[in-house]
Amino acid sequence: MTVDQSMYEALAREDQAHLLHPQYFAPDHQQPVIFDRGEGVWLADIRGRRYIDALASLWNVAVGHGRGELADAAAEQMRKVAFTNNYVGFSNVPAIRLASKVIDLAYDNMQGVFFTNSGSESNEGALKAARFYWNLQGRPSKVKLISRERSYHGGTLATSAMTGLPAFWKGFGPLVPEISHTRKPENLECDCTPNTDGECACWIEQAILREGPDTVAAIIVEPVKGAGGVWTPAPEYFPRVREICDRYEVLMIADEVITGFGRTGRWFALEHWGVQPDILSIAKAITSGYIPMGAFIVTGEIFEALKRAPTDARFMHAYTNSGHPTAAAVGLRNLQIMEDEHLVENAAAMGEVLGDALRGALEGHPHVTNLRHLGLMAGLSLVKDAATGEAFDPAATPALRVQRHMREEGGVITRVVGDHVVFAPPLVVNASEIGQIVDATRAAVRAVTGA
Ligand SMILES: Cc1ncc(COP(=O)(O)O)c(C=O)c1O
Repeated sequence: MTVDQSMYEALAREDQAHLLHPQYFAPDHQQPVIFDRGEGVWLADIRGRRYIDALASLWNVAVGHGRGELADAAAEQMRKVAFTNNYVGFSNVPAIRLASKVIDLAYDNMQGVFFTNSGSESNEGALKAARFYWNLQGRPSKVKLISRERSYHGGTLATSAMTGLPAFWKGFGPLVPEISHTRKPENLECDCTPNTDGECACWIEQAILREGPDTVAAIIVEPVKGAGGVWTPAPEYFPRVREICDRYEVLMIADEVITGFGRTGRWFALEHWGVQPDILSIAKAITSGYIPMGAFIVTGEIFEALKRAPTDARFMHAYTNSGHPTAAAVGLRNLQIMEDEHLVENAAAMGEVLGDALRGALEGHPHVTNLRHLGLMAGLSLVKDAATGEAFDPAATPALRVQRHMREEGGVITRVVGDHVVFAPPLVVNASEIGQIVDATRAAVRAVTGA
């Protein structure tokens, strides 16, 4: 579909009149890009403009756009049956098979899958599962959750509280109690190598000690903080965090809503450091965004505890659409595509191409610092002075201007967070498309900073 200017304007007015968008702020929607179709890493809007989707839409379209196989999988399943529920004594074949497939791919210690509709529901359920587990263990005081600065965990009230980005709290208080964040300890001498955002594993230990280990149910960690700006960890960070969790008997929830299913060049990101979580949250790439689905996954130990629960301790957590047959059928087909086309291996190889290209284009630039990447997740920071690290005046909004230039002049769509520009193209991306993404970035940085 390609529409003329008057049809575009009519649709934009209709959008402005009725559609409340995520992170709604009216000026953002004065001249919306209205998407129409996609193919591979490419998107086209209703005016016929083409863009490279350098964020896999919202980190989720792993197998790329336009996959007829996934539409066929959905249609085939829908023709069989509209919906059947997964509650007390009922099940369906795609959900059974997808649960087994996910357990095959996930960490060795994972055993039980609870399907959700989104990453937020996965994290909210993960916290409920952690508390429930400690109750079953006769330790009901372990209820608190510790999260990290700059993390993003979702849009429900509890997952907004988990999120370590204050912009997501403003105007929504009071937030859910018993959820707190790590902060830089004062006067702490430690031998940790900091992560790219300056955080150390000892911040987690300090937070657990501050709250009291007997009251802490779990910590929640993104292996690479995504929506907060793509911040990669030091190699020893997660092994140390695992050790701290074990020492204080605190469950480790890995939020792999972005990093799960190949994004970092491994099926799941903690594999990079030989670490396994106790609960794993996933969503996004399980269906490559073709249909909503997520899950939280628990270890054999937690699953066994739920199986042995007494009659008055049923795990009363539920969603109508948990294990929806259509979503599960799409998930199965999507994971098969990922395996058949070796997309995790491609993410690892193309991630190196992306990292090298960004460094080649921008390392040493007077207004760019902290080029970072793991697999096909990358980020860079714009600063007034790279030599001193001095930040731009917030009113200058350099990243927003870079983003706009990339889109309007370079035909590349990506995302910015504060002064950070982030990249996460579909896992099917090739070297030439990465070249176009990086060229557009370099041109935009030059246009905005003059260097
Ligand atoms: C790491 C992480 N966790 C959770 C979520 C929330 O997922 P959803 O928007 O599907 O609820 C997101 C969304 O971007 C995310 O990036």
